[in-house]
Amino acid sequence: MAESVKTEIDLSQYPHINKGLDGIIAFSSRKSFIDGQKGELIYDGYSIETLAENATFEEVCFLLWHDRLPNQQELDELNKKMQKARSLPEPVLQYIRNTSASAEPMSVLRTGVSMLGDFYETGKKNGPDGWVDKAITIAAKMPTIIAAFDRIRNDKEPVSPLSDKNTAHNFLYMLNGEHPGEQAAKTMDLCLILHAEHGMNASTFTSRTICATESDMFSAITGAIGALKGPLHGGANQAVMNMLLEIEEQDADPVEFVKERLANKEKIMGFGHRVYKTMDPRARILRSMSKQLSEETGHVELYNWSEAILETMKSEKNIDPNVDFFSATVYYSMGIKPDLYTCIFSMSRVSGWTGHYIEQAENNRLIRPRALYIGEKNQDWVPVEER
Ligand code: COA
Repeated sequence: MAESVKTEIDLSQYPHINKGLDGIIAFSSRKSFIDGQKGELIYDGYSIETLAENATFEEVCFLLWHDRLPNQQELDELNKKMQKARSLPEPVLQYIRNTSASAEPMSVLRTGVSMLGDFYETGKKNGPDGWVDKAITIAAKMPTIIAAFDRIRNDKEPVSPLSDKNTAHNFLYMLNGEHPGEQAAKTMDLCLILHAEHGMNASTFTSRTICATESDMFSAITGAIGALKGPLHGGANQAVMNMLLEIEEQDADPVEFVKERLANKEKIMGFGHRVYKTMDPRARILRSMSKQLSEETGHVELYNWSEAILETMKSEKNIDPNVDFFSATVYYSMGIKPDLYTCIFSMSRVSGWTGHYIEQAENNRLIRPRALYIGEKNQDWVPVEER
């Protein structure tokens, strides 16, 4: 009879094992650079501040797909292609009509994108141009899926996309059934720019891993949406808003509310980051947007509570806000329901996910790390009735 052996492992021999892959460089990439100490974010050579001030979301998509900015003709072509690609195949719309009205919007988005794969050529043979076309197809249709589901679950007919407006304008139009004001469309466009790309975060890693098996782009984006949905990643913006609404409902003091949660060892959503050790530069931009919009729309108390929470987190834990903290009040001031916030994050981040898919596909190798076995060996088999 073989002797059962407990595997003795000296973990100090394995310095490369960092829980959560903390600090591990998994890929080289041109897509973005983050300096977590300085609070600096660059997409393909351009600082987030420069892009926020000058770019449109569609220009950022082009940048992330081609690693350079488009000229006017290329931008016009991209805008036209996106406008032509926004409507959904009828069976996808049927799925949205037939699914549970209480489904989570992120789940509907994930399934909708997965289903889109049934209607487009998914093979890898189409090469770089084919990849960009797939990226356009997916990026153009995601806002349509989100808006259609929100209307259908509220017993309203979905609104067909416009053929002459950009992603931000179209999304608000399809969601509300009326044209947004210029300022609202611009604010949404800016939010899309700010969320487009962010290094090797969990959902981007997922997209690249799926690409590396030579699977198709629809599968990669379906997986990435699943990863973004979690509250430790993109789901945090919705959790931030729910926290602020809970403070309002309980008529609580925001500082005491946060201190109590911290005393219970709970995390405060919208704070902390694996890479940033100072304020996330996107949070800086969103902070001033949140202040302005909250004042304009009569939600100034939500902004004031956010500032009080920020100060408490700094003094109690020395932890700064991330992109999700102020984006919550920005979307709320625009009248958008909290459970759509992570979907908006997705319809922006799809540009980065697909950009990374293309980069991975151009220089691919199967992603296949290893796990250190810490179980036992040579166990004797015990018949089921004796266990
Ligand atoms: N609230 C309270 N404490 C927090 C915190 C938060 N939001 N974020 C981190 N911390 C604390 C942890 O409790 C931990 O403290 P400890 O060392 O005393 O146990 C320490 O800071 C390190 O946190 P950890 O979760 O190990 O860091 P990480 O790098 O694994 O995780 C996040 C990063 C983003 C997952 C984490 O900060 C978090 O859960 N934040 C809230 C969710 C969120 O906003 N996600 C969106 C990210 S863009």
